[in-house]
Amino acid sequence: MPSPSHPTPSEILEDRLPAYRAQVEQALDRLLPGGDTLPMRLHEAMRYAVLGTGKRLRPVLVYATGEALGIPPRNLDGPACAVELVHAYSLVHDDLPCMDDDDLRRGQPTCHKAYDEATAVLVGDALQSLAFRAVADADPPLPAEARVRMLRSLAVATGSRGMVGGQALDLAAAGQPLDLAQLEDLHIHKTGALIRASVMLAAHAADDADSDTLERLDSYAKSVGLAFQIRDDILDVEGTTEAIGKTSGADARLEKATYPGLLGLQEARARGHELVQRALHNLEPFDERADCLRGIARFIVERQH
Ligand code: IPE
Ligand code: IPE
Ligand code: MG
Ligand code: MG
Ligand code: MG
Repeated sequence: MPSPSHPTPSEILEDRLPAYRAQVEQALDRLLPGGDTLPMRLHEAMRYAVLGTGKRLRPVLVYATGEALGIPPRNLDGPACAVELVHAYSLVHDDLPCMDDDDLRRGQPTCHKAYDEATAVLVGDALQSLAFRAVADADPPLPAEARVRMLRSLAVATGSRGMVGGQALDLAAAGQPLDLAQLEDLHIHKTGALIRASVMLAAHAADDADSDTLERLDSYAKSVGLAFQIRDDILDVEGTTEAIGKTSGADARLEKATYPGLLGLQEARARGHELVQRALHNLEPFDERADCLRGIARFIVERQH
C-alpha cells in the first residue's frame, strides 16, 4: 500500500492557523484590561481595536518560528501578543485623519470613528506599552536574557529606525516620485520591520539556535515582510472594500508610493513571487518543522485579504 503523502506546507498552515489564532486571541483577551476597568472608555476602545477580525499573521509567524525551532507555542504567548499589540496600535494611528484618514478597518469603523480621535491616540499609546509589558512578564517566564533580547529587538523594530520611521517615510513620499530602492526602503521599514521582529522574537527564545539558523530566519523574514506590503499594495488596487475590510483605492486617493503605482500590477506581482522564492530558499536546510513558515510565505502573496 502506498504510504500517505506528507501534507504540503499550505496544508500544514491551514491546519495550524485556527489553533494559533485562537491561542493568541485568548492570550490577548486575558492581557487586555476589561472594558469595566477604569478608565472604561479607553479599555473598551483598546479591546475594540485588538479583538476584531485580524489575520493575526504576526503572532502566527511567532508560533511558526517556534515550531521550526522546537519551542512549544505555550512558551511564546508573550511575544505573540506583543507583536499583535504593536500592530494593532500601528493600525489605529495609521487610520487617523492626520495619517491615512480611513473610516473602515477590519470591516468595522476605525477606532477614531467608533470612539474619537483623542481616544484613538491614547489607545495606540497604551497598546504599545502593553506590548512591552507582555514580553517583560512573559508567562511562563522565559530566561531574563531572552526577554531582554526580545525587548531590544521589539524596540528597534518599532522605533524611528524601524516601523515608525517607515511611517514617516510613507507620509513624506505621498505625491513624490520615488525610485524602486527608495520604495523598497520605505516598505522594509513600515511593514517589514515588525514582521522581521515577529520571527526574531521567537528565535531569541531558542537558547541553542546557531548563527546560520538565525541569519537564515532573519533573511526569510525580510523577504516575507517586503512581500507582505507588496501584496497589501496590490489588494488596495484589485481587492473590494468588502473583501479587504478597509476602503479599497485608498492609496491612489492619497497618492501613496506603492509597488503597483511604480511598477504596474503585473511587475509588482512578479516581485512578490520572487521574494517568496527567496524566502523559501533561505529555509532549505530546515526540516519539515519549518513547513508552517513555508506555508506562510506562499500565503502572503496569494491571500485575498
Ligand atoms: C495591514 O496589516 C497593514 C499593513 C502593515 C500592511 P494586516 O493585513 O496584517 O492587517 P490585519 O491585522 O489582518 O487586519
Ligand atoms: C500601514 O501601511 C503600515 C503600518 C500601519 C505600520 P498601510 O497604510 O498600507 O496599511 P493599510 O493599507 O491602511 O492597512
Ligand atoms: Mg499608511
Ligand atoms: Mg493605511
Ligand atoms: Mg495599504
